[in-house]
Amino acid sequence: NETLEIRASLLEWYDLNQRDLPWRRISSGGVEGKDGNDEEESERRAYAVWVSEVMLQQTRVQAVIGYFNRWMQKWPTLGHLARASLEEVNEMWAGLGYYRRARYLLEGAKKIVEGGDIFPKTVAALRKVPGIGDYTAGAIASIAFKEAVPVVDGNVVRVVARLKAISANPKHSVTIKNFWKLSGQLVDPSRPGDFNQALMEFGATVCTQLSPSCSVCPVSAHCSALSLATKQRSAQVTDY
Ligand code: ADE
Repeated sequence: NETLEIRASLLEWYDLNQRDLPWRRISSGGVEGKDGNDEEESERRAYAVWVSEVMLQQTRVQAVIGYFNRWMQKWPTLGHLARASLEEVNEMWAGLGYYRRARYLLEGAKKIVEGGDIFPKTVAALRKVPGIGDYTAGAIASIAFKEAVPVVDGNVVRVVARLKAISANPKHSVTIKNFWKLSGQLVDPSRPGDFNQALMEFGATVCTQLSPSCSVCPVSAHCSALSLATKQRSAQVTDY
């Protein structure tokens, strides 16, 4: 089955090639032998994923690392952030742009803490937090809480469009809905967070917009755009 092969190949690629990023290290808190499933730990990871994904929405990975580390040093948990002032948060955000996102992080942290300090764990619950949209909700739910939901950013749209040879305008809302649906069918239910990050990272580093590395691509055998381009000779995979 093609979906199963795409999942396995992308996860294998990710296991070998994923970047060592600080928000991916928040796991067992340094305690050996823990399997990463206890509640406190997944809430710690949820907070880190939230902060990192909001930063990553407007800034490249390399530039985010320093901001993320400084932020986590100052506010290591959601509870710490909830006690911060807007001025402090804006100061920490300086240079990242779109200050509204920083304000939403602060407001969201306050709201969660005031509501009993229990991190929402599903897309449906996360979407109720001010400032958390479909993308951030999907990222937190899948990466921190293992909900089998998709995450769709520009990289994911391009990868899925190529795999399925979809040339419809990805800016149209009907097309975007379709990409959420297709990505939802693709996401690996046993490792949703890794799968979503694999897709994003694969799009950013291998299946790039202008010069995709089809010759080293782990899913080239399943790529409809590549097989069309090969058949037509003159056509280009880069048109997606
Ligand atoms: N781009 C945005 N979020 C990402 C993540 N978690 N992994 C890889 N690339 C990303």
